[in-house]
Amino acid sequence: MKVNKAEIVISAVQPEQYPKAPIPEIALAGRSNVGKSSLINTLIQRKNLARTSSSPGKTQTLNFYLINDIMHFVDLPGYGYAKVPKTLRAEWGKMIETYLTSREQLKAVFHIIDLRHPPTKDDKLMYEWMSHFDIPHEVIATKHDKIPKTKAPRHAKIIREELGMPKGKHPILFSSETGLGKDEVWKTIYELCDI
Ligand code: GTP
Ligand code: MG
Repeated sequence: MKVNKAEIVISAVQPEQYPKAPIPEIALAGRSNVGKSSLINTLIQRKNLARTSSSPGKTQTLNFYLINDIMHFVDLPGYGYAKVPKTLRAEWGKMIETYLTSREQLKAVFHIIDLRHPPTKDDKLMYEWMSHFDIPHEVIATKHDKIPKTKAPRHAKIIREELGMPKGKHPILFSSETGLGKDEVWKTIYELCDI
C-alpha cells in the first residue's frame, strides 16, 4: 500500500482511551527490542514515526497509528525485558491481555520473532496463549539482514518447529534494514483486513 498519511492517534493504557473508529486493526507483539516499532516504520516508509531504540523497553503503552485513514497499527510494549520491575511487568501484561482479548476490530496479531535465535520461553508462551484464545496471529521473523542469507531457511525452520506452527504455516522473513518481506507483509494485511 502506498501510505500517504500516517499519524499517531493515541498512546493508550485503558480501553476507554482506545480509538472509537471501527476500522480494522493489526497489532504488533514480541520480545522487547525485537523490532516491532521498526517494522511499522518500514511498512509505512517513515524513519521514526513509531519510536525505536537500541535499548529494550522503549514502547510502554498501546500506541495506535492511523494509516491512510483506513486502518490502525497498534504497537504493543515488548515482553521479556528483565530489568522492568515485576509489578510493572504484571501491569503491562494485563494491559496487553485486556486489549488482545477484548478489541473487536483486531484482525490479527503480528508476532515478531528474532530470526537469529530460536524462540525464547516467552515467545512460546505468547504463541500458545494466542492460539488458546483463538486470536488470529502471524509470525514474522525479523532481523534477516543480521544472519548469512544461506542460514535463513534453517533458522525459519527451527522457529516453525519450536513454536509448533501448523502445517502450511511459515514465518514471514523480514528485515527493517533491507525491506525484505515488506510486500508479503502488506499482502497479508490486505487479506486479513479486507482492504
Ligand atoms: P520495544 O519497544 O523496546 O519493545 O522494542 P521494539 O520491538 O519496538 O524494537 P525497535 O523497533 O525499537 O528496535 C530495536 C533495535 O533493533 C533498534 O536498534 C533497531 O534499529 C534494531 N532493528 C529492528 N529491526 C531490525 C532489522 O530488521 N535489522 C537490523 N539490523 N536491526 C533492526
Ligand atoms: Mg517499540
